[in-house]
Amino acid sequence: MTPAIAPAGGKASSIPMMGGTPEPTIFDLSVAGRRCGTLRDTGIEIIDPASQLPPEYLRDAPLELAEVSERDLVGHYTRLTHRQFSVDLGFYPLGSCTMKYNPKLADQVAAIPGIANVHPLAPVSLIQGWLEICCTLEDYLTEITGMAAATLAPAAGAQGELTGLLIMEAYHRSKGNSKTKVLIPDSAHGTNPASVTLAGYRAVTVPSNSRGLVDVEALAGFVDEEVAGIMLTNPNTVGLFEAEIAEIAALIHSVDGLLYYDGATLNAIVGVARPGDMGFDIVHSNLHKTFATPHGGGGPGSGPVAVAAHLAKFLPGPYPVRTENGFDVAYPEASIGRVHSFFGNAVVYARALAFMKALGGDGLAMMSRLAVLNANYLKAKIAPYYPAAYETTCMHEFVVTVAKIKKDSGVRALDIAKALLDEGFHAPTVYFPLIVEEALMIEPTETESRQTLDAFAESLIEIAMRTEDSDAAASMHDAPSKTPASRVDEARAARHLVTSVDARN
Ligand SMILES: Cc1ncc(COP(=O)(O)O)c(C=O)c1O
Repeated sequence: MTPAIAPAGGKASSIPMMGGTPEPTIFDLSVAGRRCGTLRDTGIEIIDPASQLPPEYLRDAPLELAEVSERDLVGHYTRLTHRQFSVDLGFYPLGSCTMKYNPKLADQVAAIPGIANVHPLAPVSLIQGWLEICCTLEDYLTEITGMAAATLAPAAGAQGELTGLLIMEAYHRSKGNSKTKVLIPDSAHGTNPASVTLAGYRAVTVPSNSRGLVDVEALAGFVDEEVAGIMLTNPNTVGLFEAEIAEIAALIHSVDGLLYYDGATLNAIVGVARPGDMGFDIVHSNLHKTFATPHGGGGPGSGPVAVAAHLAKFLPGPYPVRTENGFDVAYPEASIGRVHSFFGNAVVYARALAFMKALGGDGLAMMSRLAVLNANYLKAKIAPYYPAAYETTCMHEFVVTVAKIKKDSGVRALDIAKALLDEGFHAPTVYFPLIVEEALMIEPTETESRQTLDAFAESLIEIAMRTEDSDAAASMHDAPSKTPASRVDEARAARHLVTSVDARN
């Protein structure tokens, strides 16, 4: 008999609640003249905006807004909320993206009125506490990354990359170096080449070897006086540690190039290894992955950039500094300028600092060790059905290939990802990195219990076994069937993006 109470961890038990009839749009619920509330007549003079604003700022026709009661409004958004899959609801093993559970302590700290309600234009004398949060977090990040100085300002990982590359460009300009290209391994995250291009450099792809690591011999062939630097991450984008990082660093430094570390996901190394010790000069990290802010649609992010001592003078400004009497703001002497309004997405800093202080140095190192342990546990558990793309011990994530399942049954990585939704799990990342055929990239993170990992492995194995039956395999092309929306045409949605109200017609 099925036990009445679900075991700890495991599948998300709210799937039936998530299904049901499709939710109409808020405009479908609209009834002319209906309102959430009415304003009392206060006797205050009503001013016609047209008498105050220049004509070019006035609309020709009123904005079309949904007209609904408060009750309908709350019902609509609450129903939508219940149909979302979230990190709070269940297992979310999205490789490279670190969708991990964020402790509620971070929410509590971020909501402290003295932290949440400070006006960005408040004078320095009134934000001494905030500046201390910023300086302390910068100190912790430089310690964690092995760098000399940091800026918290960039709003996301991709903006951190651009900031780091502009620092790289400023460094070369200051030395009169004429550099044109930045090297990037073929397994790199898509934002890397995009940032390189935005920074005015040419992205040159370096091939990986059969072990999923940078092919150092091939790399040597690319290194010349025009190389401004290399963008790498270690562990790399397939979750493996680049053991030859010292050789790579020496090669790049031999032409006065800089090593950029894409530290979007620091989960595997915090408290265990430091990019600075590996020879890196610039590091960005995503506070909205490793340090207690949700990644994705969960709110603002932060992609701080830390640099080695010789690059500190190029950091963006203004930035918080310690003084004899407290804290102030300053501009580095050769700053690349401002990259964000005010001090950046400050509330994310409070969350990160609360998380770091709660765990302490030992706790952060344990976090990384557990992330690596969980990934290797899961990798070994599913290996008979889902062979790893690379056999080496992985770090915080790993990539499997379902090329054989596809060949035998026609079931693709995408079908398996969709079938997992019916099992109550979020899908792993699919078809990334591009160098692995039919890839599933799985990042369990440190926060999940063994029961959850076991339940996920069982579901994956059960799906693999289903592909051996031709009818069951065929039905997987239509999965999922238990979620509010069934299989959508993702390519069409991306190619014909319509965000206007007219999309309803
Ligand atoms: C390896 C890597 N680099 C960079 C980024 C970009 O970070 P963001 O999404 O905050 O711009 C990501 C995001 O998932 C990533 O996984």
